[in-house]
Amino acid sequence: MPKAIITGASAGLGQELARLMARDGWTLGLLARNQAALEALAEELGPGVKVRAADVTDSENLPAHLDALVAQLGGLDCIVVNAGVSPHNRKLAWEPDRQTVLTNVLGFTACASWAARLFYQQKHGHIVGVSSIAALRGSAAVPAYNASKAFVSHYLEGLRFNLSRFGIPVTDVRPGWVHTAMTKGAKGMFWVVQPDAAARGIYRAIRRKQKVAYVPRRWVLLAFLSAVTPGGLYQRISN
Ligand SMILES: NC(=O)c1ccc[n+]([C@@H]2O[C@H](COP(=O)([O-])OP(=O)(O)OC[C@H]3O[C@@H](n4cnc5c(N)ncnc54)[C@H](OP(=O)(O)O)[C@@H]3O)[C@@H](O)[C@H]2O)c1
Repeated sequence: MPKAIITGASAGLGQELARLMARDGWTLGLLARNQAALEALAEELGPGVKVRAADVTDSENLPAHLDALVAQLGGLDCIVVNAGVSPHNRKLAWEPDRQTVLTNVLGFTACASWAARLFYQQKHGHIVGVSSIAALRGSAAVPAYNASKAFVSHYLEGLRFNLSRFGIPVTDVRPGWVHTAMTKGAKGMFWVVQPDAAARGIYRAIRRKQKVAYVPRRWVLLAFLSAVTPGGLYQRISN
């Protein structure tokens, strides 16, 4: 049975993806800070699911947590680096930006680079990172979030260039808006989908080992438009 770790599996997209992958026969290691939520999910998904309460921003201790999960699983074929935050920050306070960079940049890199080293050594594995359509342009409301997702997408592209010589695939998943705790109360959203629908799109990209996947796929249209829209016009439409 294939084995995967999902970070940020205690809620939202990570939780729904865990449900899908467990149903499809994956042996899973689930990581997030909320131990009670992870244990409740593990109980729901049945025996064989391992959990680890850890904070991805604790980059010193994170490798030991991930190593322990791999030991419990008996190996690793895939990691889904999904944990992330997006605190609203139109007033440009420091703490939301700091949390965003710590989690989405430092925490993401700690997980992805750990997996890259493991898969490089064993010459096999699949790295999946959950970026966002937000990676493509700036945002007035969550400037650090969009910048952090640009980092995530570029980092994944670099890993893909590096690891392709060993046939190790790297998938950059870019969801549009999804109804989760992250988007609760957010205004101006459109094409919003439920987490189970988004998780199905993410899992499809994993199965196909896609390089870049927009979820749902219609967001590829907006990706194209946002790439060709001049900055001034983009600012007026998006803010
Ligand atoms: N919702 C959207 O519209 C949307 C759109 C595009 C991309 N995304 C991306 O999808 C991913 C999942 O988001 P979501 O919507 O499912 O959000 P969510 O419901 O708020 O879930 C976030 C998950 O990340 C975990 N997490 C946050 N900080 C962490 C930390 N320091 N250490 C370990 N785990 C941490 C949370 O677990 P604990 O609190 O238990 O630690 C939780 O399991 C994120 O990377 C997000 O940027 C979301």
